[in-house]
Parts: sequence; structure tokens; C-alpha cells
Amino acid sequence: MRISASFFLGGLLLLAAGPLLAQSARPAAKAAPAVKVAAPVIHQGNAAAGRLKAEDERCVECHGHDGNANDIEDGVGNIGKFPRLAGQNVGYIIKQFGEFRSGKRENETMAVMAKTVSAVDLADIAAYFSSQKAMQGDGKGDNPVGRKLFHEGDPARGILACVGCHNERSAGGVPSAAETPLIVGQHRRYLQKQLMEWRAGVRHNSPGGIMNTMAKTLSDAEIDALADYISGR
Ligand code: HEC
Ligand code: HEC
Repeated sequence: MRISASFFLGGLLLLAAGPLLAQSARPAAKAAPAVKVAAPVIHQGNAAAGRLKAEDERCVECHGHDGNANDIEDGVGNIGKFPRLAGQNVGYIIKQFGEFRSGKRENETMAVMAKTVSAVDLADIAAYFSSQKAMQGDGKGDNPVGRKLFHEGDPARGILACVGCHNERSAGGVPSAAETPLIVGQHRRYLQKQLMEWRAGVRHNSPGGIMNTMAKTLSDAEIDALADYISGR
């Protein structure tokens, strides 16, 4: 019985307990019908541990020590290729990371990065970035076209108000399980690229294809306007 209970604590414990537990897993599996299945164990990320791991795993080289990638250029003088992660929702970071790994979201760099990071390390790293002061724009991007779309959408084209799902700002970067990203204050160039990719269907990992639907009828000018407005918040 003791063995069965341990077995159902799931993969994370298995990792930690090593071969001993793995060995006892087989008999436990046979007894399965009699045992009430426990809720899966989710590693509660540790931000302090994550700070060190974000260094070890090199995340900070591209996403910045403060999670803002402010001074990080892509080699051709363009800041904004690397998204900000500061104050980003834990659930969103973990979802994206897993999808870079599986190829559901395609990006060569992140596919390589995602290959070697364990679930526990990722939870810690996500907790670290999420606990940072939330990303913030310079307040200069008050584009009226972007503002209107962001707050009202365009009902005639089935575009919902962005703010209905993407809150103005997460509560000071408090970790959240939400899988909807914080986008206000994100880098302009990154936002523009993502909106282009949602529109073209190159990025197709949103639940029910919601973001493909949202971006489908946006013009280039509207995407620019949205990127201006959102990055400036
Ligand atoms: C060599 C540069 C590089 C390194 C190192 C790197 N990343 Fe990234 N990361 C990127 C780029 C570029 C993107 C944007 C991909 C795109 O344009 O879709 C990205 C995107 C992401 C995203 C998605 C953000 C969003 O808003 O959707 C997450 C999450 C992420 N990286 C986490 C990490 C973590 C965690 C690590 C460390 C284990 C890491 N990255 C290391 C370059 C890097
Ligand atoms: C019904 C909810 C909903 C609405 C409305 C919505 N979004 Fe999203 N959006 C999402 C979700 C969920 C994701 C995360 C998808 C994923 O898992 O990759 C997302 C992702 C994004 C991303 C990618 C962010 C990143 O860090 O990579 C951008 C940019 C974005 N949305 C912009 C917009 C804009 C602009 C609008 C308004 C025109 C909008 N969204 C309306 C739910 C919504």
C-alpha cells in the first residue's frame, strides 16, 4: 500500500527518488484499480532557485537578467527580437516552453533551448521571471487605431477587444496559472512578428485557434498600430 501511494505521486517524485521507486512501480501498477488516484503533483516553482537556473540554462543571455531583454541585440542592431519575460504568467511560460520542445510552436533557437531543461528547473525559472517587476513600455505609443482595437475590437469583423483576455497589467507580476500572456509593455518588434505569424497561421498554438481568428483580417497598418499601442503601455 505504501508503495502504491508513492507510485501515484507521479513523475516528479519518480525523478527525485530514482531507481528504487522505479523498481517498485511495476507491482504498484497491478494494484491500480483498488487505489484512489491522487491529483498529479505539480512542482511549485521556487523563484530563488530559478534565478540561478536561468543563468545556468542561459535564458538571461537572450531574455535579460531583469527579464526585459532591453539591451540585448540580435547581432544586426535590433532590440526586440527577444521577448520580455518579466512578470509573465507562469502557466503561459511553461505552456510555450513545452510547445517549443514539441514543435507545436516553431522556433529554432527555442527548440534547442527547450530540449535540455527539466520540468522542475523550468517551473523554478518560470517562477523567477514571473516574480520580476512586470514588463513596461515607455508610455509613448498612444496610437489611436491601436487603442481602439485593443479596447473595443471590431465587432463587424469578429475581432474581440484584446483587453478582454489580455489584462492591462498582471497584478505587479504576481505568478498566475493563467495561460493567457501579459502583452502590455512587450517589445514592439516581437509583438508585430507574433501578430504577423498568427495572421499567416505560422503560429498556431492558441486554444481553439483564437489568435488566428483575431489576427486574420488585420491589415499591416493595424498590426503596426497595435504593436505601437501595446508596447507603449
Ligand atoms: C539564444 C537566445 C535565447 C535563449 C538562450 C533563450 N531564449 Fe527564449 N526565446 C528566444 C527567442 C528569439 C524567442 C522568440 C521566438 C519567436 O519569435 O517566436 C524566445 C521565446 C521564449 C518564450 C516565449 C515568450 C512569449 O512571450 O511567448 C519563452 C517562454 C522563452 N523564450 C523561455 C526561455 C527560457 C526559459 C530560456 C532558458 C532555458 C530561454 N528562453 C532561452 C531566444 C532565446
Ligand atoms: C478570447 C481571448 C483573446 C482575445 C480576445 C485576444 N487574445 Fe491574444 N492571446 C490569447 C491567448 C490565450 C494567447 C496565448 C496563445 C498560446 O497559448 O500560445 C494569446 C496570445 C497573444 C499574443 C502572443 C504573445 C506572446 O507573448 O507571444 C499576442 C501578441 C496577442 N495575443 C495579441 C492580441 C491582440 C492584439 C488582440 C486583439 C486584437 C488579442 N490578442 C485578442 C487570447 C486572446
